[in-house]
Amino acid sequence: MRLTRFFLPLLKEQPAEAQIASHRLMLRAGMIRQAASGIYTWLPLGYRVLRNVERIVHEEQAAMGANAVLMPTIQPADLWRESGRYDAYGPEMLRIRDRHDRDMLYGPTNEELITDVFRGAVSSYRDLPRILYHIQWKFRDEVRPRFGVMRGREFLMKDGYSFDIDSAAAIHSYNRHLVAYLRTFERMGLKAVPMKADTGPIGGDHSHEFLILADTGESEVFLDSAVLDLALGDRAIDFDSRDGLQAIVDQWTKPYARTDETHDAALFESAVPEARRTVRRGIEVGHIFYFGTKYSEPLGARVAGPDGAQVAVEMGSYGIGVSRLVGAAIEANHDDKGVIWPEALTPFHAGIVNLKQGDAEADAACQSIYDRLTAAGLEPLYDDRDERAGTKFAAMDLIGLPWRVTVGPRGLKSGVVELTSRRTGESQELTPEAAVAKVAAIYGR
Ligand SMILES: Nc1ncnc2c1ncn2[C@@H]1O[C@H](COP(=O)(O)OP(=O)(O)O)[C@@H](O)[C@H]1O
Ligand SMILES: [Mg+2]
Repeated sequence: MRLTRFFLPLLKEQPAEAQIASHRLMLRAGMIRQAASGIYTWLPLGYRVLRNVERIVHEEQAAMGANAVLMPTIQPADLWRESGRYDAYGPEMLRIRDRHDRDMLYGPTNEELITDVFRGAVSSYRDLPRILYHIQWKFRDEVRPRFGVMRGREFLMKDGYSFDIDSAAAIHSYNRHLVAYLRTFERMGLKAVPMKADTGPIGGDHSHEFLILADTGESEVFLDSAVLDLALGDRAIDFDSRDGLQAIVDQWTKPYARTDETHDAALFESAVPEARRTVRRGIEVGHIFYFGTKYSEPLGARVAGPDGAQVAVEMGSYGIGVSRLVGAAIEANHDDKGVIWPEALTPFHAGIVNLKQGDAEADAACQSIYDRLTAAGLEPLYDDRDERAGTKFAAMDLIGLPWRVTVGPRGLKSGVVELTSRRTGESQELTPEAAVAKVAAIYGR
């Protein structure tokens, strides 16, 4: 992509309405634009990051055994009357009436709808387990939408649902999700810690929220710092192995890690050595919950078990804040100058800065680097504007591409360009070929 052909409305001033870095930077870097309170348009740069988040989520859901579907945003109120949630949900639900006076709603979540899909299609335990998910816009009329995409009213969520014959099988589905989420966030270059969450009247230990540590997080979190040292790395995972998954889940969930909602001060002190007691703030980016027959009973989602008897299916639901993750990733990765994208999420793999636009040699070198990166399967953003070097560097720093190739007549005289890491600020002089090879290697191409 050439910058002269890319819609990138950068803001020079600090947007007054933004209280936290990610919101400020998303506005300044031309990633989003507010349409109404808590409702945003995703501009080209932001949309590219959003799609990267979606892609990683889809890939890891597939690896774990889930099927992607796409349910509608608008749902009939009658389904929610069956579960009893139509009245219970309150003013966060956007209620709509169609021209025939039927009550509809803009979905804040999809348990009822997916249970309806399931009950209409599955009647035997032989068709279990099933995990269905989608990535779809939700609407919740939050009292205080704030922090940009972090707490929006309209937001993109991955929500998944599992259907099993009994609780042991349901816990296996739960564990599939817990491990898939660890992989998902790790691939995004983010450290998200599963923390014990409230299960309310359902009870039990099978609800976890995944939190990214950041000073601007909305929850206070208390954890054993040992959990921060855990990483899956590229170990192979057999998602069909109940014991294998349980061992991983135990490793991550045994160390103390709770939010203010579930925190137990006495237990924290007795269970965690003082040097490892960590109190921080965190951003909730995922939430998994095993709730048994809470929806299958009232909605009549039953299957015939091996003995022929009808049983209500055991269910769980599993959310990832897809649009929130873009903001959360910035909270965890930025400096005074702008965003610093993890390689997995970056909207472009590298930036190319031409220090002297219009200089035949510099133009040709930039074009050649552009072509070689493209041939390697990468997407560079070439700043081909007729602007001062300082302006170009500031723009690159603001939008946060992890690698920048700087090309100027002076370097070209000695056959080199400069490759700069956004994260460390370190530069090295390399031949154009070597710079391309290095960037390609970083991305495993
Ligand atoms: N208003 C919102 N704006 C952006 N993301 C949200 C919002 N509400 C929830 N999410 C994301 O969706 C995920 C699943 O939602 P859920 O757990 O049902 O939300 P909540 O914890 O607010 O009840 C959350 O972990 C969070 O990452
Ligand atoms: Mg939640």
